Amino acid sequence: GRYQKGVRHLCERGVTKVPTKYILPISDRPQNGDDHNAANYGLRLPVINFAQLQGTGRAHVIQSLTRASEEYGFFQLVNHGIESDTILNMIEESRRFFELPFDERAKYMSADMRSPVRYGTSFNQKMDGVFCWRDFLKLNCHPLPDVLPFWPSSPLGLREAAVTYSKQVKFLYLMLMEAILESLGLVETTTTTPHEEGGGENGNLKEFEDGSQLMVVNCYPRCPEPDLTLGMPPHSDYGLLTLLLQDEVKGLQIQHGGRWVTVEPIPNSFVVNIGDHLEIFSNGRYKSVLHRVVVNSSKPRISVASLHTRPLDWVVRPSPKLVTEANPRRYKDTDFAAFLEHITSKEHKSKSFVESRK
Ligand code: SIN
Ligand code: FE2
Repeated sequence: GRYQKGVRHLCERGVTKVPTKYILPISDRPQNGDDHNAANYGLRLPVINFAQLQGTGRAHVIQSLTRASEEYGFFQLVNHGIESDTILNMIEESRRFFELPFDERAKYMSADMRSPVRYGTSFNQKMDGVFCWRDFLKLNCHPLPDVLPFWPSSPLGLREAAVTYSKQVKFLYLMLMEAILESLGLVETTTTTPHEEGGGENGNLKEFEDGSQLMVVNCYPRCPEPDLTLGMPPHSDYGLLTLLLQDEVKGLQIQHGGRWVTVEPIPNSFVVNIGDHLEIFSNGRYKSVLHRVVVNSSKPRISVASLHTRPLDWVVRPSPKLVTEANPRRYKDTDFAAFLEHITSKEHKSKSFVESRK
């Protein structure tokens, strides 16, 4: 249809009103009733100091990780060691990609969820009755040698920036996952520096190293009437962990204490959240929390989410060690096929994926 060309295209044409296709019913709008105060209420997420996780402060950081994962499902990661050039390049090359002429971007459109590259608009443009104010580029990152030839060849610096960035983020993910397994009591407490000991040694991280990694680059142009629409509808993330890079423009809101709260960007940090697979794997101890994105009329926003999970053929179920008589099993077995079925069903609007597995 008419709006499949996305929101950057609309903006290039100078729209001054949000077209009907993007106007949410009043109850779903960002400033709706009960949310009114919350919409401007900023939240400081728990902060996890990555450098301390590698040193003598590890036990303490792991405690904070547990609390953040139980109470918020989200935290901000600082002192992560990724160079600012790597991050700036990733954002800059992403910006250039969305500035390409539409026909150039359109070469990468695909409806196949397993495609190495997928350009599109809204949330799920085949299913959405009302469209979201977002264009996106999804890059599958695993296995890199197989997918790389399919990634956009323009702008010229994108591939290199995305390779460097994705590898470094994957490393952070593995280190965080190791700490999370430890926090759940699923591995022995590491007393030496974890990547020297190499969690991999005892086989623990190997199955995570071979897992899937999907990078989602989000572009939210200025919106003339931001109160009528959303950049992303409420959703939870599918995998184990998501590491999100946002520029200095706010927009991400999470459900906390029964309301929507805005995550205040911290320069040079990542927002990390627990996905559905980790909620299931932890048998409900860690929470996959709903979040959404609001847009604004003054500043375009770019974000890069990196979603990580085990290989796509992984059957997800609560870890047997976390199922006890006192804490019985709370979720059914699930896999990627069940997820695909869920998101293409009618149920997906009223029930999150993880809810559907209870
Ligand atoms: C997401 O939910 O993956 C995107 C969040 C954002 O753009 O801040
Ligand atoms: Fe998300």
